[in-house]
Amino acid sequence: MDHFLYKNGSLHAEDVALSEIAATVGTPFYCYSAATLTRHYQLFKDALAPMPNLVCFAIKSLSNVAVLKLLGDLGAGMDVVSGGEYLRAKAAGVPGDRIVFSGVGKTREEMRLALTGGIRQFNVESEPEMRALSEVAVSLGVKAPIAVRVNPDVDARTHEKIATGKSENKFGIPIARAREVYAEAAALPGLEVVGIDVHIGSQLTELEPFEQAFTKVAELTVALRADGHDIRRLDLGGGLGIPYTRSNEAPPLPMDYGALIARTLGHLGCEIEIEPGRLISGNSGVLVSGVIYVKNGEGRDFLILDAAMNDLVRPSMYGAHHDIVAVAEPAPGAPTLPFDIVGPVCETGDTFAKARELPLLAEGDLVAFRSAGAYGAVMASEYNTRPLVPEVLVKGDHFAVIRARPSFDEILKRDSIPEWL
Ligand code: LLP
Repeated sequence: MDHFLYKNGSLHAEDVALSEIAATVGTPFYCYSAATLTRHYQLFKDALAPMPNLVCFAIKSLSNVAVLKLLGDLGAGMDVVSGGEYLRAKAAGVPGDRIVFSGVGKTREEMRLALTGGIRQFNVESEPEMRALSEVAVSLGVKAPIAVRVNPDVDARTHEKIATGKSENKFGIPIARAREVYAEAAALPGLEVVGIDVHIGSQLTELEPFEQAFTKVAELTVALRADGHDIRRLDLGGGLGIPYTRSNEAPPLPMDYGALIARTLGHLGCEIEIEPGRLISGNSGVLVSGVIYVKNGEGRDFLILDAAMNDLVRPSMYGAHHDIVAVAEPAPGAPTLPFDIVGPVCETGDTFAKARELPLLAEGDLVAFRSAGAYGAVMASEYNTRPLVPEVLVKGDHFAVIRARPSFDEILKRDSIPEWL
C-alpha cells in the first residue's frame, strides 16, 4: 500500500497534488511520501517485534539525508556501503552504534572514518579485508566489531545482476570455509567477532531462498558457538521484493518474512538485524515527468518525455517494469492508445516501455512512474549533461524540495581547463 492516489481528478502524494509540485519545481522530479516510508519501516518493526532487532535501512536504495532523518528519528539503523553513505547517515543524525558497514571493497580510509566516528559493526567480506581492518583498528587503538558475510550458495531466483548468494558471485566467504575464517578473525588483534552476516540478493519474490539461507546460518551459529565464538547478532541482509505492477505480483509480506526468521533463527537468542532497502523506499516514491512531444512513428506512437534513462536507469539496465500513469485522472472508459515511452537521450536503450496503454496524452501533460523510490534518484547520472533530477518530500499537506535541481552554472563550474592547454 502507498499514499499515491487520485483525488479531485489528479494524482496526489498524500494531500499534495503532483501537478502542484510540478508547477513549482518543474519536471522531471522524484517525489517521496513520508507516510509510506514510515508505514513500510513499521511493517518490518512489527514483523520482528518478538525478537530483539534492528532494522537497518539500506541507504543505497534512497540516500537523501531528509529521508534518512525521517527513518532515523523512527529508530532505524542504517546499512552503508561507502564512506559517503556513512557520512550521509551521520549527517541525518543517526548514531554510529546504529550503522552497519557492508560492501566488498571497503578502503582503509573508509575503515578509519567509521572507526573514528562510531560504528555498530563491519560486515567483512574477505580475508584480505579482515586483515586490513585489523591493522587499521590496531593503529587507532580500538576494537572493530565484525560479522563475516557468508555466501550460502543458494539461488535467490531473481534477476542475475542483483543475485548475490551463489558461489560464483563476488560476495562473502563460502559458508563451508566460515569456521576457518572465524578462527583467523578471533586470532587477529583489533577485531571483535559479534555475529554472522548474509545477503542473498534483491527483489526476491519467494521466501524459499531465504529459508534455505537462514537454515544454513542457524547451523553455522551453533558450530561457531561450539568453536568458542560469541555469536550474538545475525545480520540477514535485505532483499524482500515489492510489487511493481498493481495486478498479478504478490511478493511475500514482511509479516511472513518475520515469521520465517523467528522459525529458523529465533531459538538462538540472537539480536536480528535486517537491511531492507527496496521494500521501504520503492513504493514510497514516484518519478514525475512531462510530455515533450507525441511523435507519430512507423506503426507506433512515441511519447517523448523529459525524463530519461539517466534519471531512472532500471528499465534500460535490468529491463525492469515500472507502471506509468497519467497524473490527470483519466475519465472512466476514456480511450487509450499503445505508446512507446522514451526519453530524449541519444540511445535506443533510452526506452522506458513499449506499447504501453495510456490515455491520449498531449504535450505538457504529466505522467508518473510508480515504484521509483528505490534505486531511482540514487542511480541517476548527468549523462547528456542533463541536470541531476531533484527530489521532493511530501508529508500530509506539506512538501519541500529536499535536493534541488543543479543549475547549468553549477554543473559547468565543476570542470576546469588547465592553464597549459
Ligand atoms: N544489503 C546488502 C548487502 C545489499 O547489497 C543490498 C542491495 C541490500 C541490503 C538491500 O537490498 P533490497 O532490500 O533493497 O533488495 N540496483 C538494483 C538493486 C541492487 C541491490 C544491491 N544490493 C535495482 O535497481 O534493482
